[in-house]
Amino acid sequence: MAERVYIFDTTLRDGEQAPGYSMNLEEKIKMAKVLEALGVDIIEAGFAISSPGDFESVRAIAAAVENVTVASLARALKKDIDAAWNAVKEAKKPRIHVFLATSDLHLEYKLKLTREEALERIRENVSYAASLCPDVEFSLEDATRTDLDYMCRVVELAIDCGAKTINLPDTVGYATPQEIANMVEYVKKNVPNIGKAVISMHCHNDLGLAVANTISGISAGARQVECTLCGIGERAGNAALEEIAMLIKTRNDVLPFETGINTTEITRSARLLSSTTGVKINPSKAIVGANAFAHESGIHQHGMMANSRTYEIMTPESVGLTQTSLVLGKHSGQHAFSKKLAELGYGVSKEEEDRLFAEFKKTCDRKKTITDRDIVALVESTEEKDSQIWSLESFVVNSGNHMDSTACITLRKDGKIYKDVAIGTGPVYASLRAVEKIIRHPFSLDDYQLQAVTEHRDALGEVLVKVSDASGTYRGRGVSTDVIEASILSTLAAVNKMLAEKSSSSFSQGQSASSMSFENDMLLDHTDKKEN
Ligand code: KIV
Ligand code: ZN
Repeated sequence: MAERVYIFDTTLRDGEQAPGYSMNLEEKIKMAKVLEALGVDIIEAGFAISSPGDFESVRAIAAAVENVTVASLARALKKDIDAAWNAVKEAKKPRIHVFLATSDLHLEYKLKLTREEALERIRENVSYAASLCPDVEFSLEDATRTDLDYMCRVVELAIDCGAKTINLPDTVGYATPQEIANMVEYVKKNVPNIGKAVISMHCHNDLGLAVANTISGISAGARQVECTLCGIGERAGNAALEEIAMLIKTRNDVLPFETGINTTEITRSARLLSSTTGVKINPSKAIVGANAFAHESGIHQHGMMANSRTYEIMTPESVGLTQTSLVLGKHSGQHAFSKKLAELGYGVSKEEEDRLFAEFKKTCDRKKTITDRDIVALVESTEEKDSQIWSLESFVVNSGNHMDSTACITLRKDGKIYKDVAIGTGPVYASLRAVEKIIRHPFSLDDYQLQAVTEHRDALGEVLVKVSDASGTYRGRGVSTDVIEASILSTLAAVNKMLAEKSSSSFSQGQSASSMSFENDMLLDHTDKKEN
């Protein structure tokens, strides 16, 4: 039987740390459940000591998942370990992940510790973590720039103190695959108690070698890999989970290992990450990019028709990319629609299905053929409507190249209708100002992205926005064949989240419009650049 390589997913910790990838509690829980369905062995849910929000999300994830180990990161400090333990202790399988840098560079300049003092910190804190939790991992931060003989002393000590996993990170993405192999072999040969622990790799991608280095570590004897969906993470990111899983599956002839990853869940997981964070997947991204299985050149298409193995080393189905076996349109009934949802991996309740089917039918009136990508966009934008305070009733915009645009918007809240008109230098600007006037809550538009979901002129337009007020930033998504409608829907999705969060405190429906400074509104600064 092939040897097992354990997948330690750090999308919610190292990944979430990267700019643009922050998630709220609800989003993190949803992501954790998807990671569990994907088949990862360990979820690093956060860094409990770093903020009350991180602590809470680690705790909530620990309670939400069943079959997967939940880890929290902790520096080699008692207070960090206490926070990590308090956050993970209710998990079915808790883990404390303690780390301390071990390279001379980090010891001298960052930690101001001698090698001997660092050993003492490790002794004290790994033992303490092991006294609380049966599963402790110890990471030697900046391992690839650590003196090998000192590394062996650290690893031996950490195992003696109770660490069951020893992680050797390439923290700055500096190593080459050969150096990684040499390091793992050296540790295996020179640490007498190494047999009592699992060796783990955690490679960053600064020189584009994260996956290559991770695989090199596995070949040399590592049996846990730390990775993230789509390779997100600090700076250039971490090793991409989907690439490691598909490499092991596709090249099992030279990598005779197995993982618990259900590779058919890969596409769905990557899409959820993208839709949650609003960060698009690069079309050329291996495994999950939109072009990863597209064959454009005539020569390639010819070869594919003769035998798909000519240009395809793995099938789209193996990563959960379903071929359009069932094309939907205006005449499709709810049964076919329901089958399509299941085919795309969405398990929805009857109530949600009814709601989605109504949206689908509305889209059919405007668009002849509905593709899988349209349905994914509809499902994901309809999810946005869960926390609706304000909903769109109707809108009219008037726009042209020699005039200001005007927008007249009607919104609904608690069964009542509210209407207002605004002027702007473009139709999106005017519409968003009208929304702002109605809801009586100024917000800033920090990001606006418009993209066609599919090809052709009748494509659905998908708008992703980020809006903010003093209390934070909120994302929203909207989909429609009309891009102004998609813009309004996405903005409403975001402001609904904003208002839901503060409904009990600052937002007051009783405030008079005259007390708000709409003329000098924050939108002005931002939309000027983002007209369409
Ligand atoms: O890159 C790194 O060294 C880390 C450790 C904290 C594991 O993320
Ligand atoms: Zn890292």
